Amino acid sequence: MKQLKPNVYMAGAIDFDRRLFDELIPLPDGTSYNAYLIKGTEKTALLDTVDPTKTTVLVDNLIKLGVDKLDYVIAHHAEQDHSGSLPDVLLLYPEAKVVTNEKCKGMLIDELEIEEDRFIVIEDGQELSLGDKTLKFVFIPWVHWPETMATYIKEDKILFPCDFFGSHLATSKLYAGEDPIVYEAAKRYYAEIMMPFRGPIKKNLEKIADLQIDLIAPSHGPVYDKPAFIIDAYKEWVSDDVKNEVVVAYVSMHESTRKMVEYFVEALIDRNIEVRQFNLTNTDIGKLAISLVDAATVVFGSPTVLAGAHPLAAYAAILANALRPKTKFASVISSYGWHGRAVEQITELIPHLKVQVLQPVIAKGVPKDADYMELERLADNILDKHKELGIIN
Ligand code: FEO
Repeated sequence: MKQLKPNVYMAGAIDFDRRLFDELIPLPDGTSYNAYLIKGTEKTALLDTVDPTKTTVLVDNLIKLGVDKLDYVIAHHAEQDHSGSLPDVLLLYPEAKVVTNEKCKGMLIDELEIEEDRFIVIEDGQELSLGDKTLKFVFIPWVHWPETMATYIKEDKILFPCDFFGSHLATSKLYAGEDPIVYEAAKRYYAEIMMPFRGPIKKNLEKIADLQIDLIAPSHGPVYDKPAFIIDAYKEWVSDDVKNEVVVAYVSMHESTRKMVEYFVEALIDRNIEVRQFNLTNTDIGKLAISLVDAATVVFGSPTVLAGAHPLAAYAAILANALRPKTKFASVISSYGWHGRAVEQITELIPHLKVQVLQPVIAKGVPKDADYMELERLADNILDKHKELGIIN
C-alpha cells in the first residue's frame, strides 16, 4: 500500500478503463478515486471513499491496512465518485461517524439516504484529533459544488483538497513531480470542471495561502510533492490574463464554412496570432476546453441548418457559455443558402461570456472575394484588440 507519510496511506482505486464522466467529459487517460487512510495513535479516519464501481477495491485496501475499527469517514464532497461507497463502508464499520459540514450532510442524506445519527457536523477551521495527528477542516466552497471542503493534517503538512487541484489521470505513480503529462491533465480538469468557478477558486487559493504545505493529495490523479507546481498553475489559470490565442471551433456541411475558416486561420497566423482550430464533428471537447482557458478570442464557424446554427456549433457555444472562460472577444463565421439567423443564435447562446462580439463574417453560398476581404477585416480587428490588451506587439 502506498504511504505518503508515516501512517498516512493511499487507499483509493485507479480506474484505467473509464472513458467518460457525467456522460459528458472524455477521460482519455482514465482517472482515479483517491481515498486516504490516516491512522492516529488514538483514532483512525478515512478521507472520502470511492466511486461505487470500485467499492471492492477500497474495502480490500482497508482490510490489507488492518483497519478493524474505523472512527471517522471525512466527507469532503457529496459527489458520488467520492461518496458512492460510503453506505457500504458505514455498513462494514458500524461505529464509524461521517464528519462533514452541514451542507454536505444534507446532500449525503438526500443522495445516499445516510442516517442522520451517523453524522458529526463540523465548522470551518474546526480541528479533530486522532491522537498524534490533528485534522483541521478548511471550507473551500464552490470547487465545484457548494459544499466542498478540505482537510489539513497539521503535523504532516498535507492538504487534502478533494477535487480542487485534481486531474483525471490513471497512473501507477504516487507523485506528480513536475510531470508535463500531469500538468496537461490538471489543466484539462480545471477547464472542464473548475473554470466556471474562477472567482471562488481565487478566494480559496488565498484561503490556503497561509498553510505550510509539503504535499497536496487530491481525490483524482497523483499527489503533488511539489505543491508550487500546481498552485502556480492555478494562479495563472484563474488570473484575468489572456494569451495571444484564438480558438476557432467550426463545422461545415458543404465546404463553404470550411473554406472561410481555413482562409481566416491563415490570416491570423500571418498576423502572428496563435490559433487552435477544432472541427466539431470529431473534437475531443476536453481539448477545446483546455484551449479556452487562456485564449483571448473565440470564433465559432457554422453553416446554416433549417434557418439556424448547425447543432454542433450551437453545442460548442453552449459548452463555452457553461465553462465561462476569461475570453475577451468572440465572433462568428457563417454561410447560408437563402436565409438564416445562425449568427444571432450563436451570439444569443453565450450570455455568460464577458466578451465583446466582433463584427461577424457571413457569406451567401461559397465565399467570394468580398467575403475573403471581410475575413481579412476580422483578422485585423482581432489583431488590433490583442494589441490593445498588450498581448502582441
Ligand atoms: Fe470528483 Fe466533484 O467529484
